Amino acid sequence: MTGQDTRGLGRGLTNYGDPDFAIYLRKSFAKSMGYSDAMLDRPVIGIAYTPSGFNNCHRHFPELLEAVKRGVLSAGALPLEFPTVSLGEVFLSPTSLKFRNLMAMDTEEMIRAQPMDAVVLMGGCDKTVPAQLMGAASAGRPAIQLVAGPMMTSRHGDERLGACTDCRRFWAQYRAGQIGSGEISEIEGKLATTAGTCAVMGTASTMACIAETLGMSLPGTAAIPAVHADRLRAAEATGAAAVRLASEPIAPGRIITRESVENALRILLALGGSTNAVIHLTAIAGRAGIDIPLSWLNELSETTPVLVNLKPVGDNYMEDFFAAGGVGAVLRELRPLLNTDCLTVTGETLGERLATEDGPLDRRVIAPADEPLEPQGGLVALFGSLAPRGAILKRSAADSRLFEKEGRAVVFSSLEDLSARIDDPELDVTEDDFLVLQNAGPRSESGMPEAGYLPIPKKLSQRGVRDMVRISDARMSGTAYGTIVLHVAPEASVGGPLALVRNGDRIRLSVSRQRIDLLVDDRELENRRSRLVVAARDPGRLRGYDRLYAEEVLQADEGCDFGMMKPVSEDRSTGS
Ligand code: FES
Repeated sequence: MTGQDTRGLGRGLTNYGDPDFAIYLRKSFAKSMGYSDAMLDRPVIGIAYTPSGFNNCHRHFPELLEAVKRGVLSAGALPLEFPTVSLGEVFLSPTSLKFRNLMAMDTEEMIRAQPMDAVVLMGGCDKTVPAQLMGAASAGRPAIQLVAGPMMTSRHGDERLGACTDCRRFWAQYRAGQIGSGEISEIEGKLATTAGTCAVMGTASTMACIAETLGMSLPGTAAIPAVHADRLRAAEATGAAAVRLASEPIAPGRIITRESVENALRILLALGGSTNAVIHLTAIAGRAGIDIPLSWLNELSETTPVLVNLKPVGDNYMEDFFAAGGVGAVLRELRPLLNTDCLTVTGETLGERLATEDGPLDRRVIAPADEPLEPQGGLVALFGSLAPRGAILKRSAADSRLFEKEGRAVVFSSLEDLSARIDDPELDVTEDDFLVLQNAGPRSESGMPEAGYLPIPKKLSQRGVRDMVRISDARMSGTAYGTIVLHVAPEASVGGPLALVRNGDRIRLSVSRQRIDLLVDDRELENRRSRLVVAARDPGRLRGYDRLYAEEVLQADEGCDFGMMKPVSEDRSTGS
């Protein structure tokens, strides 16, 4: 090997002004890890490896890594894992979304800076898969996603439990006084009992299905449970596939296209998937130079049926989805609506995959396209005077009796205000009111947390009220449900109309017209605007990543990516 080699360890040499010296030194140090010349002459497959003591969902990654390496070695390349940021959803403050872009930057730069011919992206927990796909799309090196797979369910009495729709269901019962502290502690130990990602069609599983539909992971791998032996076989096959990808080479830019993004939006809608996935897919597509206007989501939603009966919208869990046929079975139902010429990481097109694929199909979990669970997609974007750049409602998880409704606003100006007053017995609120939370968007101090699932005020929940219209610039966990309007853009902290709402204002929601309007006259709004003090943080008073985030984060309709991460014409990602 000389400094002229541009594959394997010869890629991207450390700059000493003498390429032959650089490769000699690199091989010498690599040999200190015990590799033979034969191994060091092979193509190199990097493995972005994200286990962490702060990430329960990835606790089986050591075993999964061994299987990936087996696949890479058997296909004739050298596997080398490297660590990146890992994001364990419930261990991060103020919220994991704030750090998704940090992980994406870390992933991108480590793929580009280190000598690898292709990369296996090992992720799973909510923000990790979007971060890895964003980074890989920008790095432009052949890449393949391997997800953690979902957790298994467990039992409490005669009930089946799985993180984390049931976490919220039991917590709501506890708040309403229907179960006591002893039982809620017992349930706490039963909600998440195996390795893997949340057991329902939350954000992690939605992103796994999107990755497979985009063509960035192997067919049939999104839904395999984390602890199933098939997950290890999928890992081995992913390692081998990465070697083939490197030899083609096929970079993400050939796979993540406008057509494959449309397919991904279709499956999101057919799954009744997580609202967070709209933000993440927008950010991933944005790295490939593809915009996703929310009007496009609505156009597709009109013609994409909901087919999958999984929590939080339906009855079943991810292990049932796997047994029922998984993503492939849904794609076969959607086939007339899909762009089948899209290339995938196997080198085949989506159409070629679907033509040869057959498998189990359980109609209790996956409905036929001509007898769908809902005729329209699970998500809808709303526009209007309260959300000029849009907002999202997961209509498949909402109470349709609240879809055409006008209500009185009960306003909380921040998360602190919400937690201080929501359970105040004196709070002036009825079940017909609209709960409004301000200053919880991407530029707020809280970094757009999953706080859009505002709790029902205790005095109402104790009377049996289960749902109300709730509106905010925050997000909602993919495992949550309710008539919840999210991602209002522009957000309150940058002076969006949401910041101008006051207690007692009237708001009109119309899902059929895709509208959300603040019924306050323009003069009064101008008056309020002239006195408004915006809550966005001043980047000049911040340092480090906080400062970068405050300066660069975009609004929800642009995927909350950093403005500076959009592709530029002479982008370094154009090479393979
Ligand atoms: Fe990791 Fe839910 S906490 S996927």
